[in-house]
Amino acid sequence: MSVHLVGAGPGDPGLLTRRGAELLELADVVIHDRLVDPRVLALVNPRAELVDVGKRPGATPSSAQADLHELLVTYGLRGGVVVRLQGGDPLLFGRGGEELDALFAAGIEAEVVPGVSSALGVPASLGMPLTHRGLASAVTIVSGHDVDAGSVDWSKLSDDHVTLVVLMGVAQRRAIRLALVGAGRSPVTPCAVIERGTTPSQRIVHTTLGALDRVDVDPPAVLVIGEVARARGGIGATRPLTTRPVAAAI
Ligand SMILES: C[S@@+](CC[C@H](N)C(=O)[O-])C[C@H]1O[C@@H](n2cnc3c(N)ncnc32)[C@H](O)[C@@H]1O
Repeated sequence: MSVHLVGAGPGDPGLLTRRGAELLELADVVIHDRLVDPRVLALVNPRAELVDVGKRPGATPSSAQADLHELLVTYGLRGGVVVRLQGGDPLLFGRGGEELDALFAAGIEAEVVPGVSSALGVPASLGMPLTHRGLASAVTIVSGHDVDAGSVDWSKLSDDHVTLVVLMGVAQRRAIRLALVGAGRSPVTPCAVIERGTTPSQRIVHTTLGALDRVDVDPPAVLVIGEVARARGGIGATRPLTTRPVAAAI
């Protein structure tokens, strides 16, 4: 009895690991999130059962997560090759750790197959280095989801030499701007918002921290905040970029 927690990467199926692709071919059941790219789902064994566990409308996050744990345990006990497929890396803001706990508690073994996280892979695919000598010597990855709830102390994220990568931050851009500028980060700090990175509909918007909530962007997106966000499509870029520069109004 085992369940495989597999990272699907940010979108481009070329970024799936070899172990991940192997498990998709062998799978009897694939339990996946809504964010998993259709091109990755196309690699699943055609005889496998596909279970979409994208958040149900009206379900609270905790009830949805509890239902998901029950589902994983049910399939895990049934046997066969059970793959839990998540966007990016399963253990970064994917609640994969909680899923591992639920499986272990039920006596089910789990394998974790890391994935290329959107936090790292999306900027990298554009040739945007998150650390760069002289510009940024560290990087912090943070969820923007609960910015008002106080679970993260944003006042500690004001260092200009630390690149911030914010996931789940599109809807909270105003609160993020207020928190960071309030903490002393300059409003002219460059920002890049990369929507649907590594997919055919990828879009990148360049702005500044002061104007972050005045740009028109949609989730899912990675927010890169810091001097490195000026970089556009260096030699590492894998596809033409759709850029839409935005006036750096503050
Ligand atoms: C629940 S988190 C899961 C993160 C995932 N485990 C990872 O490692 O990429 C979902 C957030 O990841 C980001 N995201 C995932 N895929 C993305 C993509 N292709 N382009 C831009 N952002 C993406 C967005 O910020 C989205 O709101």
